[in-house]
Amino acid sequence: MNLCRPYVRLYRSVHAMASPPSFQAFYPFTRLNRLLEGSPPGPSPAPDGEPVLLSLGEPRHRPPAFVAGALADNADGWSRYPLPRGTPGYRRAVADWLTHRYGLPANAVATGGALDPEAAILPLPGSREGLFFAALATLSAGRDAPNGGGKTKVLLPNPFYHVYMGAALAAGGEPVLMPASAESGHLPEPEALDPAVLDQAALCYFCTPANPQGAVADTARLKRLIALARKHDFVLAFDECYSEIYTGEAPAGALQAALATGGGLDNVLAFHSLSKRSSAPGLRCGFVAGDPRLIEKLDEALRVGGAGVPLPVLAAGERLWRDEAHVAENRARYQEKFAIAERVLGGRFGFRLPAGGFFLWLEVGDGEAAALELWRHGGMKVLPGAYMGADMPDGRNPGKPYIRVALIHDAALVEAALERLAVILTNRKSL
Ligand SMILES: Cc1ncc(COP(=O)(O)O)c(C=O)c1O
Repeated sequence: MNLCRPYVRLYRSVHAMASPPSFQAFYPFTRLNRLLEGSPPGPSPAPDGEPVLLSLGEPRHRPPAFVAGALADNADGWSRYPLPRGTPGYRRAVADWLTHRYGLPANAVATGGALDPEAAILPLPGSREGLFFAALATLSAGRDAPNGGGKTKVLLPNPFYHVYMGAALAAGGEPVLMPASAESGHLPEPEALDPAVLDQAALCYFCTPANPQGAVADTARLKRLIALARKHDFVLAFDECYSEIYTGEAPAGALQAALATGGGLDNVLAFHSLSKRSSAPGLRCGFVAGDPRLIEKLDEALRVGGAGVPLPVLAAGERLWRDEAHVAENRARYQEKFAIAERVLGGRFGFRLPAGGFFLWLEVGDGEAAALELWRHGGMKVLPGAYMGADMPDGRNPGKPYIRVALIHDAALVEAALERLAVILTNRKSL
C-alpha cells in the first residue's frame, strides 16, 4: 500500500486541475489515522495506559490564569461582532511587543511609520487563517495585486505545514515545492529556483523556526530572501508562530530584517500567534504585520470570509502580548524537555537539538514504518515525515526518512515516551 499515491497524483495534476482538490489527500492526520487503523495500540508509557499523542503540535502547557479574568471582565463583547481590524489597544500592544522583541526603531511604529499599527497590523484568529487567506488575497487580487497580478506560482517548503498547500490550491495557484532537507540546513532555498519561476511567483511561504525541522533563518538569510522577493516581486509570508520557543538565542524576525534592509516592509508579511507563545491554541488569537498594501488586501479578503477575533479574546490577547514572564516560563519547560531528549536520544536517530519550535525531527530510515511500530509496540502516535511532505519531480519525498515527535506533554511523560521510543527504534530490526 502506498499512501503517498493520492498526493502525488494531486501534485502532478495540479496544472490541469478542473475540479477542486481533495484537501484530505495531503492532510497529515487523516493519512496517519489511515496508516494506524486496524492496528491496536501497544502498551503505552503513560501512567493511565492511554495512547500517547506525540503527533499533533498542540501545546498542552496551561496559559496564564489572568486569561480567564480578562475574558470575564470583557464579557460584554460576546454580544458584538468582531471588528475587522480589531481594537487600537490590541494593535498597540502588538506594536509594542514587536518593537521590544525585535529591537525595532521607535519611529517604525509611530503614526505614518513603516509599521504604523493602524495600517500595518491586523489581528487574526490564530496564524492559520491569515496564512490561508494570504494566498487567496494575493492570487485573487488580479490587476489590483500589489505585485501587478497575473502570477500563479506559490512557493512552499517541502516538508510543509499543510495549510500552505491547501491555500495555494484553494486560490487556484500552482504549488512549487522547495526541498528543505539536511543539505540545505533544513530550510528551503528560493534562491535555488530558476529566475523564470521566481518571476511567476505570487507568494512564497517561509516558516522560521521551521515546522517540522526546528531550523531558524538568521538575519543575513532573511535579508537575502527579502531582496529576492523584491527583485522578482513576490509576496513573502513568514510564518513565525514558533518564534518564542527556542533552545539558544531568540530567532531573528522578518520585520526586523526588512527594516534593516531598507525599503520599509515592502513585500513582507509576518504571522504570529499566541497559540505556541502563550500555550493558548484554543484562544485563537494572533496577528499579521507587514507591508500596508498587503495588509489592506488581506483585510479585504478577511472581511468577506474570515471569522475575526472576538472582542473579549482581543482583550485577553492584549494582556498576553504585554506579559513576558509566562512566555519565559513556557519556553523553560520546553527547554527542560529538549535537555531530556538530548540525554535519552543524543547521538542516535539523527538527533539534532532544534534551534526553535517544539518538535524532534528524527531520522529513522522509513518514517512510516517507524510510526507504525511505535504505535503497535509502544502505544505512541508520531507523525511520519512523509505525511508533511510530497514527492519532488524526481520522485523523492524529503520527509520520508523522518518522524516528527511533538514534545507537548509534561516532562515526566516525555521522558518515559522517549525512553520507550528509543528501545523500540533500537530493536526495530528484530520486531
Ligand atoms: C507552522 C505552523 N504555522 C501555523 C500554525 C497555526 O497555528 P495557530 O493558527 O494556532 O496560530 C501551526 C499550528 O500548528 C503551525 O505548525
